[in-house]
Amino acid sequence: MKLLSSFLLSATLAMPAVAASTHKMSVDTDESAGIISKHIYGHFAEHLGRGIYDGLWKQDENGDYIIRDDVIDALKDLGIPNLRWPGGCFADYYFWQDGIGPKEQRPSVVNNLWGGVTEDNSVGTHEFMELVAELETDPIVVGNVGSGTVEDMANWWQYVNHPGESPMSKLRAENGRAEPWNVEYWGVGNESWGCGGNMRPEYYADLYRRFATFLHPYENVKPFRIAAGAAGADYNWTDVVMERAGDMIDGLDLHHYTIQGSWTTKKGEAVNFDESDWFELMDRAIEMDEIITGHKKMMDKHDPEKRVWLIVGEWGTWHEQEEGSIPGFLYQQNTLRDALTASVTLDIFHQHLDRVKMANIAQTVNVLQAMILTDGEKMLLTPTYHVFDMYKVHRDAVALPIKLNKGKYRYEGDSLPALSATASRDKDGRTHISLTNIDPHEARTIEIDLKGMDVSAVKSGRILTAEAMNAHNTFDNPDNLVPVSFDGARVEKGKLIVEMPAKSLVTLEL
Ligand code: AHR
Repeated sequence: MKLLSSFLLSATLAMPAVAASTHKMSVDTDESAGIISKHIYGHFAEHLGRGIYDGLWKQDENGDYIIRDDVIDALKDLGIPNLRWPGGCFADYYFWQDGIGPKEQRPSVVNNLWGGVTEDNSVGTHEFMELVAELETDPIVVGNVGSGTVEDMANWWQYVNHPGESPMSKLRAENGRAEPWNVEYWGVGNESWGCGGNMRPEYYADLYRRFATFLHPYENVKPFRIAAGAAGADYNWTDVVMERAGDMIDGLDLHHYTIQGSWTTKKGEAVNFDESDWFELMDRAIEMDEIITGHKKMMDKHDPEKRVWLIVGEWGTWHEQEEGSIPGFLYQQNTLRDALTASVTLDIFHQHLDRVKMANIAQTVNVLQAMILTDGEKMLLTPTYHVFDMYKVHRDAVALPIKLNKGKYRYEGDSLPALSATASRDKDGRTHISLTNIDPHEARTIEIDLKGMDVSAVKSGRILTAEAMNAHNTFDNPDNLVPVSFDGARVEKGKLIVEMPAKSLVTLEL
């Protein structure tokens, strides 16, 4: 019965292709639109659901938590530039002292925020630092402003970073680590307008100044201080916080999720959706452009030199969690639809690279728009993982200015831009173009004028697409939706012609 219904579902969602329309695009290969910061490809791991325990770590035969090698290998292949921890909302409930020292002496607390489960603090500062060392990635630590003290946060900073003799470096050494970890990126609270303390921006700005004062630079590391940014389109938050505390802020952490349906009644489902849900989610994803533009305007008012980074510290799709999964664990499947919202969002970040220098998709394993899902010993890579993999060529590359006739994806009297793109040149001089077609029906032909480049052939290409809009990977069929080699691009009379199927993402190397 189950099999039959999933067959019927994918059959209904399989969209017949319609004849391709042609779109013009130009890429200025001699010009630069700036550097795409690798930190835009950042990740986030909160003590939430099965993200930490049973995600990045698993229990060995003695019940001790050990780093999960299969997950780590997959993340190493992806090459993640940073990892944000321990929250999220959890950060403003977290007392770091509970997570150091002998494991049997660490207290257990209740994770009231996420499922009311016991948090036994098996994973704490040392374990997280071992993980980031293994991943060769930069840690982003978020301190507790909502329920902690300035002293707590200052001591944590000292514990991880102090290079010489100090009470906290002594304690660190007693716990087995003599050398400092040199953690640079430091969040001063999370969502302080909500779960982080329900503050007004005026109050938070003052509190931020106070907490940030005690993050002292040492000879080995200078703090990059990140203030809690706004929720979605709350531009007033950005205006007030930048005006009152901007001089002490290095990064402002905006959070904006892509949901279909409603926060207050019911969000949409991850796998079971129709075209109206597809259209709505794409529409919501594209809103990121408007939201970033609004916050940039406020930041430009107070920081015209663009010193302060706009960080999109939490983004991604948020669906109703999977039926049967533990309440509060935010476990959701991930389909082609999620993948294309990710590529469109990454394109938007690139278009705002003058201000957006860092972003963290939520969350790495088993939570929200994850890269990886696990089930006991089984593991799968989600379609979103594959998008990050196809896009990694753009990290730290020079963005090339593009002009694109995006066309229209029409649905029931409404329309959205059908196409989205990024072009870049990497350090070795290789040019890459990524193209997304969100239209689930219509294939598109894109005729690209590569100004300043004499292209004779396409070196390689990969495509992510499927017949069904809700195509996804399962533990029984983990390679159902993976990128495959793409042969739909050719050079004709000096122009690059790309035949993009409906609902697809393509990355080309020229
Ligand atoms: O990512 C899940 C939650 O979403 C985070 O804890 C919080 O910061 C946000 O509201």
